[in-house]
Amino acid sequence: MPPWLISLESCPSTNTWAMERWAALAHGAVVWTEQQTAGRGRNGHTWQAPPGVLTASIILHHRSGFLGDAGAIALVAGLAVALACEDLVPGLQVDLKWPNDALVNHRKLAGILCERPDSGVVVVGIGLNIDPRWGDDHRALPVATQATSLAEHGPPPTALAVLTRLRRYLDEGAGLLDRKGLGPLLPGLEARDALFGRVCVVATGDGEIRGIGAGIDAQGRLLLKTGQTVTPIASGHITAW
Ligand code: BTN
Repeated sequence: MPPWLISLESCPSTNTWAMERWAALAHGAVVWTEQQTAGRGRNGHTWQAPPGVLTASIILHHRSGFLGDAGAIALVAGLAVALACEDLVPGLQVDLKWPNDALVNHRKLAGILCERPDSGVVVVGIGLNIDPRWGDDHRALPVATQATSLAEHGPPPTALAVLTRLRRYLDEGAGLLDRKGLGPLLPGLEARDALFGRVCVVATGDGEIRGIGAGIDAQGRLLLKTGQTVTPIASGHITAW
């Protein structure tokens, strides 16, 4: 077992575990379990994962400033997931639905929940479908709305292989973000932007905005084109696309 890995037989949620102990966890520590009993998703949702879904949280400590911006680090986390999966499954193209859902052919591969226990620390929680043993509920869905997995696209890598790559890309991306901002990471994000050119509806604190995805700016905001106007959206939730 690598020294950075904390492997738990079972826990309510790796994010909750890390949020409660962040002060004792080093930059790059990874909390991993094969069984979460109270997994959490974004927007207060629960997150249930059958065996074969990687559930882990990676701890990042702020170095000079940009890590403090939760929006930007969420994008970096999505890109790290995409790069790690593309390395391990040859020919795979992972798209990113702002802010950080990882998709393959419009079907969800991974979800990410970034939380900040302190202004200088981010806990990046990842639920990634490596080779899930789905239940009947999942199989009853139309294929287009089912989640996908790495195993659908090639021989599935081990959880440890995924975590090792993911941690490295996340550390590199967070370091770049710290030193240079999001700019150097934008080409990788733009190449995988699932919303670009698509009509989407975003729920924000001020109501819903409908427009055409027009990229991501250097602050990590989603750009939505409505007529001749481009509106940057700092935080929100895609309700249709
Ligand atoms: C989402 O798509 O809503 C985000 C899902 C994030 C799930 C992961 S699983 C590991 C970590 N622990 C949690 O409780 N949630 C995240």
